[in-house]
Amino acid sequence: MKRILVMNGPNLNMLGVREPGIYGKQNLQCIEEMLRAQAEKLSVSITFYQSNHEGELIDRIHASLGEVDGILLNAGAFTHYSYAIRDALSTVKIPTIELHLSNIHARESFRHTSVIAAVTIGQISGFGAYSYEHALNAMYRYLETQDASMD
Ligand code: DQA
Repeated sequence: MKRILVMNGPNLNMLGVREPGIYGKQNLQCIEEMLRAQAEKLSVSITFYQSNHEGELIDRIHASLGEVDGILLNAGAFTHYSYAIRDALSTVKIPTIELHLSNIHARESFRHTSVIAAVTIGQISGFGAYSYEHALNAMYRYLETQDASMD
């Protein structure tokens, strides 16, 4: 069974309360439940993690080496400036999908840049809570294709 880590960065613990016009009314626990239902359909195992601290996110990425097959990462505002998270991802080389609830390219200009995108498989942005589901489906297909190419 493929093991997928779903990582959430700063302020995402406040979903539901935080700017619902932008991020929706669902809290992170609702999103987790939705994703668990989808994970069960796909027969993959998911671990959900949230931290407001850059170093904790980096530690978790390091600890994932050999433990997870893929990472879905909503790094929150760290997306736009954390070279340290980017370096952690390129260190472990675990396939990662960057995701965002909002469409970062349609918002303030500082959100248009992702310093993480270049070390990921790709980016999913703008589908609200469904960005998580799309990212899980995309990771599932990616890992399946990787396995097929090894046969
Ligand atoms: C976000 C977008 C980021 O710009 C912002 O800082 C967040 C949430 C999103 O999911 O839309 O914290 O990653």
